[in-house]
Amino acid sequence: MSLRRVLTGITTSGTPHLGNYVGAIRPTVRASRQPDTRNFYFLADYHALIKVGEPARVQRSTLEIAATWLACGLDPDKVTFYRQSDIPEIPELTWLLTCVTGKGLLNRAHAYKASVDKNNAAGEDPDAGVTAGLFMYPVLMAADILMFNAHQVPVGRDQIQHIEMARDIASSFNHLYGEHFTLPEAVIEEHVATLPGLDGRKMSKSYDNTIPLFAPREQLRKLIMGILTDSRAPGEPKDTDGSAVFQLFQAFASAEETAELARAYAEGIAWGEAKERLFERLDREIAPMRGVYDELMRDPARIEHILKAGAEKARAVATPFTAQLRHAVGLRPLVSAPSSAQPAKAGKAAVPSFKQYRENDGLFYFKLLDAKGQILLQSKGFPGPRDAAQSISRLQKEGESALPALADSLALQAEAERVRAALAFFVAN
Ligand code: TRP
Repeated sequence: MSLRRVLTGITTSGTPHLGNYVGAIRPTVRASRQPDTRNFYFLADYHALIKVGEPARVQRSTLEIAATWLACGLDPDKVTFYRQSDIPEIPELTWLLTCVTGKGLLNRAHAYKASVDKNNAAGEDPDAGVTAGLFMYPVLMAADILMFNAHQVPVGRDQIQHIEMARDIASSFNHLYGEHFTLPEAVIEEHVATLPGLDGRKMSKSYDNTIPLFAPREQLRKLIMGILTDSRAPGEPKDTDGSAVFQLFQAFASAEETAELARAYAEGIAWGEAKERLFERLDREIAPMRGVYDELMRDPARIEHILKAGAEKARAVATPFTAQLRHAVGLRPLVSAPSSAQPAKAGKAAVPSFKQYRENDGLFYFKLLDAKGQILLQSKGFPGPRDAAQSISRLQKEGESALPALADSLALQAEAERVRAALAFFVAN
């Protein structure tokens, strides 16, 4: 079985807060350590332009979110970690998808409909203040996902509709041009609680009630001391239900620690003391990462370098795949024969391919050719056709990681980078 591909992005429109950490960053870092998956994590900075009109803020947020992911333990050697706007194939794919997306589908998107409803209620023109960017948001997101043929997309509940739209858009494209895209599925973390903010409502930038994940220690303490509580005096038993302090504690602490705090609530712990315990527990988890974060923030060149390396890995998949898609829709060099009948076959001219054949010596061979037909790999002779086919199938499923094991049966290998790019194409398809 080929590796399960998991992909998710974070819009670079603000400073990461505790809610982002618990809801998105911590789970993605944990998931990235699972074997048998190939993870694509990216900074959705094209998406940020839809909401944010301040260039400095987009740049700052991109740096902060990248530094946060890394400080929280994301290993860029184990995952493909990149910035959306470093992949020019994504806006290109967005256009190809735009042309198979029903306008009516986009009319039904929650985010767009909410703006229209608000305008209608205010007696304004329905589309007042709505940009085409907001309207097109789901298509850009579909391009993010379909470019890497992700099987699974971990997102918050508010994003489920977008994943469903990506499936619809992928189906339309496949129907018209052949089976190019995997249909993605949303993955919702059932047990991850929505964190309350300073005022007890959901922690969210739009409520201005957030606690920045990497606030300096003293500021973190001050913010926690300001969390809204009821007015019960020290000594009075307190409710854990609906207590923001308790819920925040629970999101970080073990079951035993949480049970212990619940006992203290029943015994009438003072709010000041409960907040002190919350602060110490939070800081215990955050402080080591905060040190790494502060260091990374002082060295943007290092992050830039990491993202550029990630973009290269991502483009090793995106570039050949886009070539295949361009060909599929008819954006082709004029010298190639117009082959409209079989989309799958039509794709072959512009993509890498394996060829299996028998030589006069009676042995079976294979070679890997790049999109231009140049040889990238050439096998030695195998006694039977199935031996050759097995090696091909391994290379197609496992990509470059299968190379060391097959080294003995290869007679020739082109430059590593070209071989890697071609194999990445098969893994992604
Ligand atoms: N729209 C997502 C959000 O705001 C971010 C995002 C952009 C994304 N492209 C994506 C998430 C692709 C998952 C997959 O949360």
